[in-house]
Amino acid sequence: MSKSYAIAVLEGDGIGPEISAEAAKVLGAIESIADVRFDLRYAPFGGQAYFDTGASFPLETQQVCDEADVIIKGPIGLSHEESKKIPPNEQPERGALLPLRKRYSTYANFRPVYLPPELVHFSPLKPEVVGDGIDIMMIRELISGLYFGAKEEGLDAQGLRYVKETLEYDEQEIRDILHVGFTEARNRKKVLHNVHKSNVLLSSVLWNTVSDEVAAEYPDVEVKHVIVDAAATAMVLNPRQFDVMVMENMFGDILTDLAGGLIGSLGLMPSACLGHEKAYYEPSHGSAPDIAGRGIANPYSMIGSVALMLEKSFAMPREAGLVWDALRSVFREGFATPDLAKPELGHKALSTSEFGDKVAAFIVRQGSPETETV
Ligand code: IPM
Ligand code: MG
Repeated sequence: MSKSYAIAVLEGDGIGPEISAEAAKVLGAIESIADVRFDLRYAPFGGQAYFDTGASFPLETQQVCDEADVIIKGPIGLSHEESKKIPPNEQPERGALLPLRKRYSTYANFRPVYLPPELVHFSPLKPEVVGDGIDIMMIRELISGLYFGAKEEGLDAQGLRYVKETLEYDEQEIRDILHVGFTEARNRKKVLHNVHKSNVLLSSVLWNTVSDEVAAEYPDVEVKHVIVDAAATAMVLNPRQFDVMVMENMFGDILTDLAGGLIGSLGLMPSACLGHEKAYYEPSHGSAPDIAGRGIANPYSMIGSVALMLEKSFAMPREAGLVWDALRSVFREGFATPDLAKPELGHKALSTSEFGDKVAAFIVRQGSPETETV
């Protein structure tokens, strides 16, 4: 009997609907080569959802997500001008995205920084630095720290406006994400870079104490401690020294965007957000309202998020591998998306849907049983 999965699809804002359509196309291609059915359930989420329904994470959407096996989500966010029309706590980042993360306790955020040989020329780094590619798994704690600590604002005794935000972690939260980091390192090159700021932050002192405790359970994994600011420099100067990196929420937000720069575009950054019971998948980038609706958005990170979903939620490593191969194949043939194409290098720019068509066609061609037996 074929397997069937219910997937909540939150298209989001800006380029979200366009790139979500390509993700759906790829899921359709997977259905045609594997004994699996995907039941896609679309629901409003983000800034447009606020204008349409009065809430950026409407109750009906929460229900759709609760009932789905897994969630795939496009980017959210509006232009500065549009955002200002929404009360701060309903703005899609605070009103939808953070509540989504909290609702499903998606504490483990995997952000692959993957630049295979077919894509190395997109990196702004020199060829001798980037070599034949970059392959780092950045793991970010996603539901605690500064993002979710108590906040307060008001007037102080001198009548000055002030704000207070707190960075809180308990040892369980730290232990959970470190186990994820160590396990990933064990399955890869057995080296884990632990990113911290223990020279200043007490939260990092506790983090590192827990990391020593957890490390005892993984004697086969070598831990390298690196201070967050130094990590930023090291990632630019020599990204190939890193394999798996683990860090708290805010450090991860910043360093993963830096990583997007290393490989040439945030458009190449998919992600998986895993909880103990539920997972959701999303590109690491924003909704690019300035280019929305023009068919020029890069759907790579949305399609890469589908690959992560196949691997991590549906245990379909063969199909996940096919999606990655398909993505690489488009570049191997000299095509690129407009954000990456350099006409002087002979790249042929593809529209959003042409890119998705090529990925889907590759999957159907390479993944059908007849091709496999040849
Ligand atoms: C990310 C994004 C979000 C974050 C924003 C949109 C709230 O930048 O997923 O990295 O800061 O976590
Ligand atoms: Mg970010």
